[in-house]
Amino acid sequence: MIIVLLGPPGAGKGTQADKLAARLGVPKIATGDVLRAALRDGTPRGREAKAYMDRGDLVPDSVIFGILRDVMSSPAARKGAILDGAVRTVPQAQELGIMLAELGRGVDKVLLFDISDDKLTERLGGRTVCEKCQTPYMGREPGTRCEKCGATLIRRKDDEPEAIRNRLKVYRAQTAPVIDWYDEHGMKVEKVDADGTVDEVTRRALKALEP
Ligand code: AP5
Repeated sequence: MIIVLLGPPGAGKGTQADKLAARLGVPKIATGDVLRAALRDGTPRGREAKAYMDRGDLVPDSVIFGILRDVMSSPAARKGAILDGAVRTVPQAQELGIMLAELGRGVDKVLLFDISDDKLTERLGGRTVCEKCQTPYMGREPGTRCEKCGATLIRRKDDEPEAIRNRLKVYRAQTAPVIDWYDEHGMKVEKVDADGTVDEVTRRALKALEP
């Protein structure tokens, strides 16, 4: 099953992608995590993406096409994938469709995590993430240890107030049109209320995935 997760920054896509991936037994593919790992490793892809990510702008479509091509053709994604933030522009939605059609596959479901600006600003302002495995946390100070892998928790550069404002602006201008694009191309976008506990939101997402 190939599931596309849409939603503004801080809606909880990453948190829910982990839950859904574990539940459905398919990998989570988060382009933000792939880019941050490339940045940490100092690869050319990471160096190209850095300035865009720090400002909260989208990295060029060509970079994302490369990542999608790599991951969708990998054996790990044979059973399916949870695509977290991997589709943020209409050209990316189009290209993913073409890529999957070439592999004899297609997107099965699109979930849109819906939440107010106030709530997501509060979430992003309080977030720390593991510098290694990128697990997000709430209410944990930078410098403390990740529960999963023991590495250090840090604040993301794009969780500064100015970058958050820009990410929201970019979401409305470039990612919100993807919702209409899927609707117009016969793929019903299932809206999931993302305000609630993590478990409540997971339950709503699993319900939205039912046939
Ligand atoms: P990315 O890392 O994907 O950032 P984002 O989309 O802005 O999303 P976030 O990771 O900020 O939020 P989230 O929705 O995953 O929420 P989370 O689960 O962490 O991308 C970063 C950058 O990479 C982009 O800005 C862009 O530059 C580039 N990029 C990536 N993909 C791209 C693409 N396809 N095209 C172009 N550029 C691309 O939750 C947030 C916080 O809330 C956490 O602390 C979490 O613990 C907490 N939380 C989650 N759920 C709940 C809940 N139910 N209750 C209470 N707290 C909760």
